[in-house]
Amino acid sequence: MALRKLVAGNWKMHGRASSLAVVETLVDKHLNPACDVLVCPPATLIGRLSGRGVPVGGQDCHWETLGAHTGDIAAEMLADAGAEAVILGHSERRADHGETDEIVAMKTAAAWRAGLRAIVCVGETEAERDAGQTLACIAAQLAGSVPEEATGDNLVIAYEPVWAIGTGRTPTLAQIAEVHAFIRESLETRFGHGIAHAIRLLYGGSVKPGNAAEIFEVKNVDGALVGGASLKAEDFGAIIAAA
Ligand code: PGA
Repeated sequence: MALRKLVAGNWKMHGRASSLAVVETLVDKHLNPACDVLVCPPATLIGRLSGRGVPVGGQDCHWETLGAHTGDIAAEMLADAGAEAVILGHSERRADHGETDEIVAMKTAAAWRAGLRAIVCVGETEAERDAGQTLACIAAQLAGSVPEEATGDNLVIAYEPVWAIGTGRTPTLAQIAEVHAFIRESLETRFGHGIAHAIRLLYGGSVKPGNAAEIFEVKNVDGALVGGASLKAEDFGAIIAAA
């Protein structure tokens, strides 16, 4: 049974008050009743975007509920501001902030505690792919970053090859199919058939209007995590329309 697709936009460190217009245009012209849409703006915009017709998510959270952590945001704060989901373990956070699988697992547990759906990101570097380590890398990240209580409702996995993010390069469809099948099998081994087949697997990394349709056709691809192209309503809308 095909899962309902999810197209999630990751705005990264982009977006000002003027970006609210992107969401207005999306809602006016570009939503697709056949798929779910999520916009993950910077935390400063979550409160302003929530309730405007598109579900909103965060891009990171701390693992604790509150405390002396200057600059950090608790999952409960994201929920309080109107977020329904949070991206965790994005490769930029893993690289810029030294986030390990163990930290990502703690953050995922925190997201669930706050009632947020976690979008946990995994993906190999180019060196790992060249060394034939892609599946081993994904296996280790999945095992280390996803806590035991995963369900189809609380977890989404995003496969994002690091070398495809923001580069305009994408894996072949066969490479995407191979990794997504491997993720599905790994989830099945750990959580059983029912849960594994209810967890949506997104592809991310240079998804654009021109390649979205063929990527969505790939088996075990249940949507996309979109960076650059989610900043323009027209491009993001074209990707949503392809889902
Ligand atoms: P990109 O980013 O679509 O700009 O490649 C994807 C991501 O980092 O989630």
